[in-house]
Amino acid sequence: MRDQTVEPEAYWRFNVLHRAVHIVVMFAFVGVALTGFSLAFSPVGAARTFVWFLGGIDSARYVHRFCAVVLYLCVVAEVLWIMYFKFALRGKLFGPDSICFRLKDLRFFRDHMGYLLGQSQTPPPFERFTWWEKFDYWTLFLGMQSMALTGVFLWFPEFFSRFFPGYFVNIAQVLHFDEAILAVLYKFFIHTSVRHLRPEVYPGDWVIFTGKVTKETMMRAHPGEWASLNAPQQGSAISDQQTI
Ligand code: HEM
Repeated sequence: MRDQTVEPEAYWRFNVLHRAVHIVVMFAFVGVALTGFSLAFSPVGAARTFVWFLGGIDSARYVHRFCAVVLYLCVVAEVLWIMYFKFALRGKLFGPDSICFRLKDLRFFRDHMGYLLGQSQTPPPFERFTWWEKFDYWTLFLGMQSMALTGVFLWFPEFFSRFFPGYFVNIAQVLHFDEAILAVLYKFFIHTSVRHLRPEVYPGDWVIFTGKVTKETMMRAHPGEWASLNAPQQGSAISDQQTI
């Protein structure tokens, strides 16, 4: 048993499920993006060469759908995790440890802007997930729903044409393509730069791979969570599996 009088030097931030899902999402996302844009531009340039490399248009379509299914299974895994968090671990969906937005995030956002504009000396006492981490998570989570919906229209056009006018398939194609551009721009530029190019973590933030953060990082980046973990009887050392 851990000595409650000694503060832990490191804390679990992501358990093995979240780390594994993140790695799979990284590869599957690159897979859908490469194959999707290669399909869209298959008659020309590098896209044509890439489609040839994959074995032709049918194989490229197959790889795109395979990666899409894997990507969506990761979304399902996250939904199952949230249910496990709520029902088995008795976590609060709108509590300080949850990835769900709550009203307090609005206040954190306002105070954070004030801090960035030099109106206050200290950042807000962020809890387990900051407002921008929640935003990042939910943009991908919700974006995947519309990519999947438009994607299945493109996958089974005959089936959906039985229930909807045929031009819905054209609309789905436009939406799927436009949102793919948005998703790629967001993930490769905003997500990557916000995670890795901040001065505190530059040249990289590896927490999603290692799963743990140092005490200094906790105190600086998640002071609210650090304070609650170190309240009497609640500390969580690296040797304890912290669950979310
Ligand atoms: C998760 C669900 C997804 C499903 C079910 C799905 C399915 C499909 C299908 C069936 C097609 C048509 C391929 C063809 O036969 O020519 C397609 C095209 C495409 N997909 Fe996806 N996809 C998904 C996610 C994504 C994501 C996340 C991206 C990008 C980041 C993406 C980018 C594209 C692009 C650029 C095209 C070409 C559209 C065009 O030709 O105008 N897809 N997708």
